[in-house]
Amino acid sequence: MPGYFNFWPFYEIIARRLKDGDTVAEIGVWLGRSIIYLAQACQRLGKNVRFIAVDTFTGEKDQSEHKLTVEKYGGNFRNGFEENIARCGIADMLTIIEGESCASARAIGNSTLALAFIDAAHDYESVKNDILAWLPKVKPGGILAGHDLQYEPVRKAVCDVLGNKMKEAHPVWFIEVK
Ligand SMILES: C[S@@+](CC[C@H](N)C(=O)[O-])C[C@H]1O[C@@H](n2cnc3c(N)ncnc32)[C@H](O)[C@@H]1O
Repeated sequence: MPGYFNFWPFYEIIARRLKDGDTVAEIGVWLGRSIIYLAQACQRLGKNVRFIAVDTFTGEKDQSEHKLTVEKYGGNFRNGFEENIARCGIADMLTIIEGESCASARAIGNSTLALAFIDAAHDYESVKNDILAWLPKVKPGGILAGHDLQYEPVRKAVCDVLGNKMKEAHPVWFIEVK
């Protein structure tokens, strides 16, 4: 399945940390590669974890690589995502929220998530707004994290909002929420 998933060591650690009853949100799921990996890891470990998949299903703006796939699905690739999660046996673990990241966060209760993983738009303003929107959703002891710290706009946004609380597990940034 096509995707941008190069952070499986991080998700392996997360899978071992998660507990029965936990909820995880991945913001920016594309065709499902990363969220399917984590959900299947939880299945293998016998953990009862719920997943929330947040995406516009229209691709990242100004991302030429996304264009062909989005066009192939007629402008919205939610069907492709749904086919993949069904084929991989995780559809019943997952709730889909189709929409913009920050607007979608408003549907989630504060301090409810064990992990919020941000991999949506990668420009400075979007990453900053995503961190501000999703940080309050993570419960104490949980983790807020995101992809692509190697991109300067991502690094600057993470550093500006989180300062020296930010930790690195290349290519992932994360903080443990107190
Ligand atoms: C890099 S891809 C995610 C890759 C996926 N996590 C993986 O590893 O396969 C970015 C995704 O974020 C979505 N996206 C971009 N901007 C968004 C926004 N503002 N709100 C919600 N989703 C967004 C795109 O539609 C795309 O599916």
